[in-house]
Amino acid sequence: MTAIPKDKALDSTLSFLREGYHFLPQRRKRHHSDIFQMRLMGEKAVCLSGEEGAALFYNQEHFQREGALPRRILTTLMGQDGVQTLDDAAHQHRKALFMKLMTPDSLHQYSTLVAETWRAYLRRWEQLEQVVLFPEVEEVLCRAACAWAGVPFEEKDIKPLTRDLSAMIDAFGGVGPRHAKGKLARHRAERWVGKMIDQVRAGKQYAVEGKALHAISWHRELDGKLLSTHVASVELLNLIRPIVAIGRFVVFEALALHEHPRCVELLRTGPAQYAEWFAQEIRRFYPFTPLLGARVRADFEWHGYRFRKGTLTLLDVHGINHDERQWEHPHLFRPERFREWNGSPFNFIPQGGGDYAHNHRCAGEWLTIEALKTTAVLLATSMTYEVPEQDLSIDLTRMPTLPASGFIIRNVRATA
Ligand code: HEM
Repeated sequence: MTAIPKDKALDSTLSFLREGYHFLPQRRKRHHSDIFQMRLMGEKAVCLSGEEGAALFYNQEHFQREGALPRRILTTLMGQDGVQTLDDAAHQHRKALFMKLMTPDSLHQYSTLVAETWRAYLRRWEQLEQVVLFPEVEEVLCRAACAWAGVPFEEKDIKPLTRDLSAMIDAFGGVGPRHAKGKLARHRAERWVGKMIDQVRAGKQYAVEGKALHAISWHRELDGKLLSTHVASVELLNLIRPIVAIGRFVVFEALALHEHPRCVELLRTGPAQYAEWFAQEIRRFYPFTPLLGARVRADFEWHGYRFRKGTLTLLDVHGINHDERQWEHPHLFRPERFREWNGSPFNFIPQGGGDYAHNHRCAGEWLTIEALKTTAVLLATSMTYEVPEQDLSIDLTRMPTLPASGFIIRNVRATA
């Protein structure tokens, strides 16, 4: 049996919070190994990196999700008892509920809603002296998400709802006030959608068949029972919250277009697939999910290393997307690299890996790619704007992160 390389620190939790996206990739380099172990939040954690490490992490014979997520993530970002925490038949059955909503037609509908909403906001942006893109884009995406999901809202609901969904996302790497804000936001949002689901079930609120609100309200578990109001609201938020999260990638798109004006030209006049390569490179290059966690189901061996039942195991998501063995010059922004990408489910995992129906890979990955293609083209072709002097630095020790200024634009004019 080979010993797994061990980090010397007594506990690395504080280093993780301090080092952010650098934390696992730096340790992989230090140990010259795709497998190493440390203590995190008082317990032993094995870390996996590289394509082979990802393939192992997604082997469900060896790993389960039950008990893997820390409470601080469940009470803010994800909610309790949602699809992320399930395994086996219960997971597959719940996951099918999400995947059924992701038909090509439905993805197209979402992109159309984003484009229409964007154009309406653009008219307002033209009137303003300057626009901070991040909160505006989050609002565009949230409004389009509610329409797409069949969630009725009043005009006054949109800003507070967007702020709450954004706070849940912002809480994932935060402690203290950021965590508290995310928790309160989740509480409010769950109550808001929970009431709506109760009203649909009581026949007091119309829900359009085929849309998320209807599908989730009437979904039956394997035992034939409806989801509890609480779990149904967690799952409805599992759709509209991550759609708002796409806003961070949209801001990174604006930054990439600012720093690489060549990409603007290519989005206007380049090959038809360019928007897709650009969206993929945004998801690979810019930081979002740092890592994922699972637990060992039962003792097993892999390449001479012993994994013991119950061990927390982390996957180096950010490191795999920047792995120099897979990506030539990984720290350069080059959309064209996706012309040659081999499509492996384990070497490019910004939204998880493996397969959609059986594994935990992100249910909204196709929707994210389609939305990012749409917003890239909107940024490049539907408007002109100036980017004034501002702090565009990205703090890689903060999770999640963004350009510091939120991306300010001025003199916005619609062109199409
Ligand atoms: C799961 C990232 C957008 C719905 C995940 C996972 C990641 C992720 C890393 C976990 C994979 C795993 O556990 O193995 C992201 C990012 C997004 C995004 C970075 C965009 C910024 C979306 C969208 C939706 C969505 C737009 C829905 C419309 C889900 C759901 C799961 C999930 C339901 C749980 C899947 C499961 O446990 O089987 N996402 N996601 N996500 N995502 Fe996303």
